[in-house]
Amino acid sequence: MGNHTWDNKEIFDFIDDEARMVRPANYPPGTPGQGYTVIKANGKELALVNLMGRTFLPPLEDPFRMADEIVGSLSKKTKCILVDFHAEATSEKIAMGWHLDGRVSLVVGTHTHVQSNDDTILPQGTAYLTDAGMVGSREGILGMERTAVLRKFTTQLPVRFQVCEGKWQFHGCFVELDESTGRAKSIQKIRLLEDEWIMS
Ligand SMILES: [Fe+2]
Repeated sequence: MGNHTWDNKEIFDFIDDEARMVRPANYPPGTPGQGYTVIKANGKELALVNLMGRTFLPPLEDPFRMADEIVGSLSKKTKCILVDFHAEATSEKIAMGWHLDGRVSLVVGTHTHVQSNDDTILPQGTAYLTDAGMVGSREGILGMERTAVLRKFTTQLPVRFQVCEGKWQFHGCFVELDESTGRAKSIQKIRLLEDEWIMS
């Protein structure tokens, strides 16, 4: 999830019961939902942690200290840990990559909707990508219908955004892990576009 977790009030009806849903772990104690989970599939386990940055975003608790706390306890149970760092500033995301290098399998950024071109494996074995990008229409502006966004920029008046339709794009990354150590063996960003595809 991320900074839009609470945009639709219906989420409060089910967030505490939905084990697959993870909101930023650095919201204050008592916030509904969970900040991390362990996914089990095909006899394998992957811990997933969501944290939110504080640059140009709400001033939550320190995501770096929260990462220390959560990764410290999760790593006693599982070696494979994915940290989704939902943040605006590239510097804050790169800092988190270095902060967790050698302690988690993957640090991947989200929130900007624009895929970065810096997929790498850091020296201690953590795969890293500043932003995974987005899944949705590529005919809008960050997935939103572009006429309303343009009106907002050109008039500064309040507008209602709507999810854009049209040709899609699918961004993400593919990471191969060494199960015995939890370290990454490879990372490859994925960028698929309707009517064409590029995997680089
Ligand atoms: Fe976001």
